Formats: sequence, C-alpha cells, structure tokens
Amino acid sequence: MDLRNLRFLSVLLLSAIECWADQQALVPDPLKALVGQNVTFATTIDPKAQQFIVITWTFNDGTGPSNVITAAPKGESVEEKYQGRIVFNKTTGALLLKEVTTSDSGDYSVSMVMVDGHQIPGEVKLTVYEPVTGVEVKANVTDVVEFNDTVSLTCSAGGSALTYKWLSGSATVTDGDRMKLSDDNHMLTISGVLRSDKGPFTCSVSNAMMEKSSSPLTLNISYGPDTAVMTVTPQKAVYSSGSNISMSCSSLSSPTAEFEWLFNGAPLKKTGAELKVEDIQEAQSGNYSCIAQNTKTMRFKTSNTALVSVLERISGTAITGPTGQLIAGNSSANMSCQATGGTVITRSWLKDGTPLSPGDRVTISKDKSSVAISPVEKTDTGEYQCKLTNAVNTDSASYKMTVNYGPEGVTIIGGEAVEMGDLVKLKCAASSLPPATFTWSFNGTQLEETSAEYVIEKAIYRNSGKYACVAKNAITEKTSSAVHILSVKEEGTLDESLSGGAIAGIVIAVLVVVAIIAAAVYYKRTHTKLESPY
Ligand SMILES: *[C@@H]1O[C@H](CO)[C@@H](O)[C@H](O)[C@H]1NC(C)=O
Ligand SMILES: *[C@@H]1O[C@H](CO)[C@@H](O)[C@H](O)[C@H]1NC(C)=O
Ligand SMILES: *[C@@H]1O[C@H](CO)[C@@H](O)[C@H](O)[C@H]1NC(C)=O
Ligand SMILES: *[C@@H]1O[C@H](CO)[C@@H](O)[C@H](O)[C@H]1NC(C)=O
Ligand SMILES: *[C@@H]1O[C@H](CO)[C@@H](O)[C@H](O)[C@H]1NC(C)=O
Ligand SMILES: *[C@@H]1O[C@H](CO)[C@@H](O)[C@H](O)[C@H]1NC(C)=O
Ligand SMILES: *[C@@H]1O[C@H](CO)[C@@H](O)[C@H](O)[C@H]1NC(C)=O
Ligand SMILES: *[C@@H]1O[C@H](CO)[C@@H](O)[C@H](O)[C@H]1NC(C)=O
Ligand SMILES: *[C@@H]1O[C@H](CO)[C@@H](O)[C@H](O)[C@H]1NC(C)=O
Ligand SMILES: *[C@@H]1O[C@H](CO)[C@@H](O)[C@H](O)[C@H]1NC(C)=O
Repeated sequence: MDLRNLRFLSVLLLSAIECWADQQALVPDPLKALVGQNVTFATTIDPKAQQFIVITWTFNDGTGPSNVITAAPKGESVEEKYQGRIVFNKTTGALLLKEVTTSDSGDYSVSMVMVDGHQIPGEVKLTVYEPVTGVEVKANVTDVVEFNDTVSLTCSAGGSALTYKWLSGSATVTDGDRMKLSDDNHMLTISGVLRSDKGPFTCSVSNAMMEKSSSPLTLNISYGPDTAVMTVTPQKAVYSSGSNISMSCSSLSSPTAEFEWLFNGAPLKKTGAELKVEDIQEAQSGNYSCIAQNTKTMRFKTSNTALVSVLERISGTAITGPTGQLIAGNSSANMSCQATGGTVITRSWLKDGTPLSPGDRVTISKDKSSVAISPVEKTDTGEYQCKLTNAVNTDSASYKMTVNYGPEGVTIIGGEAVEMGDLVKLKCAASSLPPATFTWSFNGTQLEETSAEYVIEKAIYRNSGKYACVAKNAITEKTSSAVHILSVKEEGTLDESLSGGAIAGIVIAVLVVVAIIAAAVYYKRTHTKLESPY
C-alpha cells in the first residue's frame, strides 16, 4: 500500500466517519410483542455500502447485560440459552428472536465494528406482553331495586399491563356521582341505581398489544309503580243503567304492577288491570280508583278517581186520564203522566204534536206531572202526549181525549113551497159528538121518522104545515131543534120559469118562423118556373 493510496483511504475514512458518526444501528422505537411471537431486531445498515466485521448483541433485563451472540469472520458464538431461539442475518446483522416470553423483555443493544474499523452502536427496548384473556364482568347483585340499591361490578381478566374501560350500551362510563370507578378502573360501583342503569355493561380490557371485551351484563332493576292512571271506557258523563263499562288501570312498573280496585275508597276485592262492569245499576254509581302495587319494590300508587254516574232509563211511561165520558162545558179532565222506572228530570206535554200551553181552563201542575182541564170544551179533543226525559233517555206516552158536545146549530134544509105530487126531502143537520139522533114532528104531532132525512114521496095539500126536527145527543143528553114551514101548492102554480107572457112570446115566435119558411118555399117555386128553358 503506497502513500498515495493510504492518503486516499484516510480521506475516505474521514468522510465516512463524518457521515456515520451519529449512525445508530437500530431504530430506537421500543418494540412490543406478545408472548410466543417472533421479534426481529432489524438494523439500519445498508449491506451494499456498509459491511461489518464483528457484531455483538447483548441483552439487559435490568439485572445486568448478558451476551446473546457475537459474530466475527472466524465464526459465531451464541449464548447457550439462545441456541435454537435466534436466527442471525450475516448480511444485515439483524437478529430474530423466536417465541418470546415475558423474560425476554428488556434492553437489546448491538455493537458493529465496520470494515473501516469504526463502531456503530444501537439500542432498543423490547416489551413482551402476556395476551389479554378471560375478560369477565361480575356483579355482586343483579336483581336490584331502583333508588335503594348499590351494585358493584367487577371486571376480571388475565394478561399483563392491563387497563380497564367500562361501557354502558355503547357509551363509555365515566367516574361520576353515582357511578364510581376504582383507581385502576376494574371496579364500577353504582349507588342508588336508576332504571336507566340497566346497561348492558361491558368491560373492555386492553394492553399495548390487544383489547378484549367481556360479554354484556344487564342489571335487572325493579322500579315503580309510577303514576297510576285510570280510564273508563266508554267515557260518558252519565251511563244508562244496564250499560257495560270497562275501567282500566295502568302504571309503569317492573315487574308489572298488580292492581286492586276501589269503590268510594273501599276495596272491591277485584284485581287485574281491567275492571269490567256489566249491566251497571244506579247503586254502582260512585268514585272508582285503582291501586298499582309492585311486589318487588314494595311500593304502590293510587290512581286518579273517576266518577261513574249511572242513571236508570225511564220506562213504563203512561198517562192516566179520565175514564168516563167527557161533556163539553160540564166535565173536567185530569191527565197524569207517570213512569214505572227511572228518574225523571224533565217533563213536557204536547197536544196533537204541538206544545200544550196553559190557559184559563188548562192548568199544568208545577212539576208538570199532570194537566187539569176544567171545564173541557170540544176543542180539547185530540191526542195528548207526555214526554219524560233524563240524561240517558226520553220515554213518552199518549192519550186520546174525546169531548162530547152538542147538538149545536140544528137546521132543516129542504124546499119551502112545493107543488102537489112533488118529491119533498127535508134534511136535518146538527153539529154533535157523538152524532145526534133525530125525531120529527108535524104540526106538533110526533112522526115515525128517526133518520136525519124526512121524505114525502108525493106531496099533497095536507103536508103543508110546521115540521120540527129534534136532534138529541145520547151522551150529553142535550136536545136542540129546528122548525121548517112547508106549503104545498096546486099543480102548475109554481111553474115560474114559463109565465103567461113568456108562453105568448114563444107562440108568436113559432108562428113567425113558420110564416118565413112558407114564404121562402113559395118564392123558390115561382122563380124556378121562370128560369125554365121552355
Ligand atoms: C417464528 O420463526 C420460525 C422460524 O423462522 C417459524 O418457524 C415460526 O413459525 C415463527 N413463529 C411465528 C409465531 O411467527
Ligand atoms: C438477510 O436480510 C436480507 C435483507 O433483508 C435478505 O435479503 C437476506 O435474504 C437475509 N439473509 C438470510 C440468510 O436470512
Ligand atoms: C354490593 O356491593 C355494594 C358496594 O360494595 C354494597 O353496598 C352492597 O351492599 C352489595 N350488595 C350485596 C347484595 O352484597
Ligand atoms: C328480573 O326480575 C323479575 C322480578 O323479580 C324476574 O321475574 C325476572 O325473571 C328477572 N329477570 C332476570 C333476567 O333476572
Ligand atoms: C253487556 O255485555 C253482555 C255480555 O257480554 C252482553 O250480553 C250485553 O248485550 C251487553 N250490553 C250492552 C248494553 O252492550
Ligand atoms: C266522589 O268524588 C267527588 C269529588 O271528589 C265527591 O264530591 C263525591 O262526594 C264523591 N262521591 C262519593 C259517592 O264518594
Ligand atoms: C328503600 O329505601 C327506603 C328508604 O330508604 C325504605 O323505606 C324502603 O323500605 C326501601 N325499599 C326496599 C325495597 O328495600
Ligand atoms: C153537569 O152535569 C151534572 C151531572 O152530570 C148535571 O147535574 C148538571 O146539570 C150539568 N150541567 C150542565 C151545565 O150541563
Ligand atoms: C183533578 O185534579 C184536581 C187537583 O188535583 C182535583 O181537585 C180534581 O177533583 C180532579 N178532577 C178529576 C175529575 O179527577
Ligand atoms: C097544520 O097547521 C097549519 C097552520 O099552522 C094549518 O094551515 C094546516 O091546515 C094544518 N094541517 C093539518 C093537517 O092539520
């Protein structure tokens, strides 16, 4: 080696030393591995540009450094306890440590002596972790009562360098007033549990290498009953007796509440969320409420009160009216309207469909239960109706009243002057209820006729005189009569339509017409002869 060459080598060396002065053979970022994994300690050197002559790997677990492998051109020496456990790369100097255990945790350092004689050191920390296993959450009690109980949840797991995290559903549990986490977070204590605290709780355990979660744990939290609400269906201000009603009670509770029913504050000895009352009666009117009970929390709530009013339907309405015959102007009539069932609230009276109004003769009692008519008149005849109403129905009854009257306004209709042989009909008319019966008399002598009409087939002189018709009402026992004068004249004397003058006129007119016809015939004959062609 000549001087020139040596100088050149020195320049190369110096520049190399400058360049590699700070080089570290290992990336100093700590290495992590799980028990059983292979760990490679890679070097930073570029085998193409950098070659080492001697390399030494040492391990320090804190108790002092120990050799792992030393390699030199003449050979390798592997520490006994690493034999078969390592793979050494002669080109890069990298070391592979197989199936590490926790005792492999510590500092690994390398020292390389390069061909140019300078040294490159390197150091890296390896931490070997035991895997996270058997993550499990346990509660000291799972059946708890809202507000009263405290639950302690414990998370257990195997592994090294563990950290604990709690989740309720998907939300992370943080240390708070009611939720307390132990110092290392492996315990969660919930005091005064609320129904919202049921979870599911999961514990997530991790170390630098992995994370594992427990299976979820759900707390069985008994709560309630909350406010009890009672409703009645159908909802009505007043129920008609005989209705079916159903009452239902509800309250938020876990376990489900049990219900008891109260009537006017006293137990009905009925249970269940629904109380059905069929064919309800007036006596069952009152205040209904329910009590919700939770056998687990030993708490109870009384519901709102619902007033159920039951009213009997009005039935059997009838009018009691006069039984005997009523006579206009003499009788009085009382009508009374009563129902056999139900409570009547309002009453009204109608006559022939229009409201009955009181007057001089018509008195409606103060409670409208009866109507008195005194005396009755013929206009009072008609159909009377009484209507009884309450909050659940209207019932009505009617009564036909007939007032007997008359006879009134008796008249005889018929001819006054007739001719001998004429047919004469005298008709007697009277207004009467019931219809009147008639008797006739002539010149004061009773006739046999008893109908409304008196007929003379062929009038004779002796029929002239005074005819009287007597109308009689069998009920009112009243009679009334009318008189009619009839005069029978000689035949022809009553031919007023053809008087003497009129007859003379007709005769003259006929004669004139005959004369004119005769003249016309004569004239025609003479003229026909004149026109003859002969
Ligand atoms: C570790 O390396 C050895 C040899 O290279 C191989 O046989 C083994 O499967 C590796 N183990 C793991 C866990 O990678
Ligand atoms: C050494 O490492 C280099 C680069 O990673 C690789 O190419 C080579 O095959 C390795 N040699 C052995 C013997 O493992
Ligand atoms: C559960 O643990 C909590 C907190 O330590 C405690 O207050 C509670 O009494 C325990 N419950 C039972 C049933 O042991
Ligand atoms: C929760 O508690 C109720 C009431 O004691 C019980 O009926 C139910 O079986 C419990 N559920 C669970 C999952 O423990
Ligand atoms: C009440 O219920 C009974 C039995 O279910 C039924 O026979 C009856 O018709 C019901 N009454 C009414 C008013 O709905
Ligand atoms: C029902 O409750 C109302 C209001 O609270 C009360 O005025 C009424 O007297 C009660 N009725 C009965 C029958 O208790
Ligand atoms: C809950 O606590 C209250 C008051 O602290 C107590 O009166 C009640 O008996 C408790 N309930 C249960 C079910 O332990
Ligand atoms: C009324 O009837 C009574 C007995 O029926 C009778 O005595 C009286 O005369 C009658 N009065 C009139 C005005 O019809
Ligand atoms: C009708 O009722 C009144 C009073 O209630 C009574 O004075 C009168 O005698 C009654 N008349 C009849 C016909 O019942
Ligand atoms: C009936 O009376 C009238 C006078 O009032 C008299 O002219 C007539 O002759 C009487 N007729 C008989 C048949 O008595």
